[in-house]
Amino acid sequence: MVKDKVCIVTGAARGIGAAIVKRLAENGAHIAFTYVSDSSAEKATALENEAKSFGVNAKAYKSNAGDFSQCEVFVNDVLKDFGKVDVCVNNAGISKDNLLLRLTPEQWDEVMNVNLKSVYNMTKQVIRPMMKAKSGSIINMSSIIGIRGNAGQASYAASKAGIIGFTKSVALELGSRNIRCNAIAPGFIETDMTHYLKEGTAAETFLKDIPLGRFGKAEEVADLTLFLASDKGAYITGQVISICGGLNI
Ligand code: NAI
Repeated sequence: MVKDKVCIVTGAARGIGAAIVKRLAENGAHIAFTYVSDSSAEKATALENEAKSFGVNAKAYKSNAGDFSQCEVFVNDVLKDFGKVDVCVNNAGISKDNLLLRLTPEQWDEVMNVNLKSVYNMTKQVIRPMMKAKSGSIINMSSIIGIRGNAGQASYAASKAGIIGFTKSVALELGSRNIRCNAIAPGFIETDMTHYLKEGTAAETFLKDIPLGRFGKAEEVADLTLFLASDKGAYITGQVISICGGLNI
């Protein structure tokens, strides 16, 4: 579905990002992905090799998505190494959950930098080559928490809601250049970020509100990402697509 497209995925050493890398590579895309910490380097190399096993080019880059100049260097390197950028999946994200009474300015800034400024940092870099190519798909990982809000997650919710406004604005600005920009809003997906879902009582409370009666899998988010990245999604832009087992009805 994405044969020979060059796809960037940020924050992909594990979780949803890693599942997206595998799904895109399996479907013929060449992959440039980022990881941020030295402790993830080994996982990133393993993922790079796994992607290459599908017969595509793949390369892991150490780059902090929250840092504008590192994103500039990263995208320039991708253009040197791969020659073009067709798809950018802004997946990197963190949560620093705390009740507002206790939420520090440092925690607020960190979440905003990694979750929201990162999306600006990367999108700003990829739209130039996409405008030249008169084609591109940008996919931003928001969250249903950005739509509904959640007690104890004011900074996370604000960053994910910010992504939605950004996504719609970019879609309006760049639609005439055939650049699409969409957001995915996952519900509860089983990854390291949601490790608490495995802990009995919390899981039962959340499950009651999910019509499909289960948590989602990273691979299911990857399938949706693949569709939006591919030409099958050619008439979809400016949308926020929830993948949440019905939690957000
Ligand atoms: P995760 O914690 O397993 O993965 C996040 C990845 O982002 C990690 O590989 C981490 O190293 C990377 N990262 C963190 N800071 C970074 C930075 N400054 N620069 C580059 N990479 C960085 O979490 P998961 O679940 O895979 O989340 C992926 C995305 O999906 C995030 O944006 C998250 O907010 C979003 N999401 C996840 C949901 C879930 O239930 N797991 C629900 C809704 C949204």
